[in-house]
Amino acid sequence: MDDFLSDSAALFGEAPADDGTINYGPLVLTVAQKEGKANTLLADHLFSPSLLLAELLETGVISLKDKSVIELGAGCALPSLLAATLAPAAPALAVVTDYPDDTILRNLHANVARNAPRFAPSCKVHAVGYEWGTDARPLLAGAAGFDVVIMSDLLHFDRAHDVLVGSLAALLRRAPDARAYIAAGKYTQAHVCDHFVQEAEQAGFVLEDGEVAGPWSGLLEVSGGGLDREQLGVRKHMCRWWTGRWNM
Ligand SMILES: C[S@@+](CC[C@H](N)C(=O)[O-])C[C@H]1O[C@@H](n2cnc3c(N)ncnc32)[C@H](O)[C@@H]1O
Repeated sequence: MDDFLSDSAALFGEAPADDGTINYGPLVLTVAQKEGKANTLLADHLFSPSLLLAELLETGVISLKDKSVIELGAGCALPSLLAATLAPAAPALAVVTDYPDDTILRNLHANVARNAPRFAPSCKVHAVGYEWGTDARPLLAGAAGFDVVIMSDLLHFDRAHDVLVGSLAALLRRAPDARAYIAAGKYTQAHVCDHFVQEAEQAGFVLEDGEVAGPWSGLLEVSGGGLDREQLGVRKHMCRWWTGRWNM
């Protein structure tokens, strides 16, 4: 965790002060105020793995078309909210979740409300408080599971791998075409990522490494937080990602 914090401090120290918003295509996003749980659980930044996932969604490497999607530890929820704007490839349902804390959820709700006019009319978007490892049934609302679970930059919480995997198992529909998209910063040490992969495999998942190649290939304009195309290229190469599915 200390390594992660020092790396992320260096990373974000480069960003010039601006009005604090991040613009990604039609989305205008804010991060939670740096206080209390938002500070200690790191909901007060947008992290590079969510940029990588956004690029993969924007370029169609990952398609969420007509799927039901849930994002855990979403922070400002860039991947899910971007997907919601990508008509006709938008998901049918995007549930963005984060730790049930007022500051964190206020920001998450604000991101959903501010960007709602940009979402595909066919895509329902909800923001909900959810702590990993707790009862997932209220999120499922009677459904057998979500088609897709998104986890961006959560693996460095190494003591939470068991509950994170438990939540993944409770939320991902038990079907061959259900998918988890998981991304981590390289600042999360390899043995920590390996530990998560092993825990997931023991719980019945297969995780396949994704490729990170070439310069930034998104076409949408991105600004705020010191992000330009060069920075976006640097940020994406600081990340790894996996596609997870049930071993069946
Ligand atoms: C490093 S940030 C990643 C944020 C965002 N996904 C991104 O990539 O920019 C970790 C996120 O996980 C959330 N989180 C940490 N521990 C959690 C827990 N036990 N239950 C639910 N969310 C948690 C934090 O509030 C924070 O939003």
